[in-house]
Amino acid sequence: MCGIVGYSGKQNSSKIVLEGLKTLEYRGYDSWGIAVQDKNQIKIFKEIGEIKTKLSMLPLPKTSCAIGHTRWATHGGVTMTNAHPHISTTKDFILAQNGIVENYTPLKNMLKKKNYKFKTQTDTEVIVRLIEQQTNKEDTFRDSVRGAFNMLEGRNTIIVLNSKQKENIIAVKNGSPLVLGIGKDELFLASDALAFTRYTKDVVFFDNLDLIEIKGNKFKIYDSRTGKEKKYKITKLNSKVEEVSKGKYDHFMLKEILEQKDTISKAVNYKLEEIKPLIEEMKKSNRIYITGAGTAGFASGQIAYFLRSISKVDILDIRPYDFTSYLPILKKDDLVIAVSQSGETADTIEVLEYAQEIGSTIACIVNVEGSTIHRMSEFKYLIHAGPEICVASTKVFTSQCVFGYLLAKSMVGEYTEAREEVESMSSELGEYFSEKTFEHIKGLVKKIRGRNHFFILGKDQNAYIALEGALKIKEISYKHFEGFSAGELKHGVIALIDKGTPVFTIISDDMCSKDLLSATEEVRARGAYTVGVGSSKFKGEECFDYFLPVVKGKGLSSIANVIPFQLLSYFLAVSLGNSVDKPRNLAKSVTVK
Ligand code: M6R
Repeated sequence: MCGIVGYSGKQNSSKIVLEGLKTLEYRGYDSWGIAVQDKNQIKIFKEIGEIKTKLSMLPLPKTSCAIGHTRWATHGGVTMTNAHPHISTTKDFILAQNGIVENYTPLKNMLKKKNYKFKTQTDTEVIVRLIEQQTNKEDTFRDSVRGAFNMLEGRNTIIVLNSKQKENIIAVKNGSPLVLGIGKDELFLASDALAFTRYTKDVVFFDNLDLIEIKGNKFKIYDSRTGKEKKYKITKLNSKVEEVSKGKYDHFMLKEILEQKDTISKAVNYKLEEIKPLIEEMKKSNRIYITGAGTAGFASGQIAYFLRSISKVDILDIRPYDFTSYLPILKKDDLVIAVSQSGETADTIEVLEYAQEIGSTIACIVNVEGSTIHRMSEFKYLIHAGPEICVASTKVFTSQCVFGYLLAKSMVGEYTEAREEVESMSSELGEYFSEKTFEHIKGLVKKIRGRNHFFILGKDQNAYIALEGALKIKEISYKHFEGFSAGELKHGVIALIDKGTPVFTIISDDMCSKDLLSATEEVRARGAYTVGVGSSKFKGEECFDYFLPVVKGKGLSSIANVIPFQLLSYFLAVSLGNSVDKPRNLAKSVTVK
């Protein structure tokens, strides 16, 4: 949540920071701002909402050093006053934060008593005033920033532009991500390397509490607690530099949904020898946990399902924010598998930090190379889906699930079969993504778009698919879609069904199909408008008012079943005129708790 960018070098700094912010906009789009160092002064430009201003319209001088921020509001409304970066009273420095100052109330009260004045409702302004307070006590500006930072509680990463020293940026990382890019005579700082990978792939990742000071094209890293200089390692990013553009599509979401034809294959592009170390670790672990939040949580659930049902692995699937009661029983010889797109989700990282502390082994299934979770893990599996920009996750979900399927099948000696199944699903998807399919789904959108409450029934292999399908639609249509296990129906949920309520049933050709047909009959008898989603075998069943056939997908049919919901979500949101890629109130990377 929130994106930070900094630049010092030979190019026009506002251009680089603006480009970087545009790339990082998925992290928050409530407001944005850029501050440039112009001789001994700071010039600022801020705006509410998405980045619409082009570089040519930006009223900022061409300079060599700037910082920027794109905001997802935590403390204080979405206003120009609350938009970052925040300037100091004397205008000597300006600061932006990604995170939350958990102890901001006592700090603010303390500063107010000392007559410091506040103009915004943000927690970030507290950091500005703390630095002001420290400048009267410390010798160097770096020590003032350090002194202030050490008073903060919570996960917060800050970036500060100092006007008194030429091309001087200081950043401190704690919890929220930060990476340095080293170009030729230029340096970049950003919450995600994607902001600058078109210029350099040489990066430095930081530990929590690292302080980075840039002066021109030189930098040094310090331990923010002790102030001592630290050594660093330059890493070359392997991932192909992918141009983040919508191409011919109106929205990233549709582009990313259609990419699944290829991304599922890339996710399983591992040799058996590369998967074996994780299998061996799973075999010798005392207990295995798998965790992830939101869509990644549903992917964890689906992976756990494959591991239990295919390879008889005893695995606990726990959401990271519900992990508290498990922490006392987590042991050194346990394995924790984290599932995440960004690799930066605060709740998930917190569980891993605890696991690290007690010495449990960590494995991950993530999309972003070099992300915090990726770096924290001993067993690292990248799913290589490429940048996912739309806030609503689509291609990463299916990639994580197919990787889980490959893992489960490899454990029982069916690695080759799993790879073949993924390949066959990939070519089936090539045909499935057609105008005919889109028109059929749009036909359903016309029938249901006026309704506000919807239900999705799934069971067994499709239980998590029902939850993910519902989340996808909620996120961008803002309609109340509820997914649940068909088994729950008669235990209460059926009370919600009345005339015309759309109820979706996910049906695979498996031992649960009879139960699902009966459940559909039961809701239909109470007036529901029933939609079947799944194997074409059930297309002609009388209990369905509408049917969305899905590619066969063999053992992967459950994963394939999520795709019509992704498309339905997309076409429904478009028909409602909603912001598809940047839905209200959300951000792609949830780096605060
Ligand atoms: O980056 P992560 O996969 O760890 O993110 C977890 C969730 O925040 C994320 O899946 C969220 O639920 C998405 N908006 C889903 O579309």
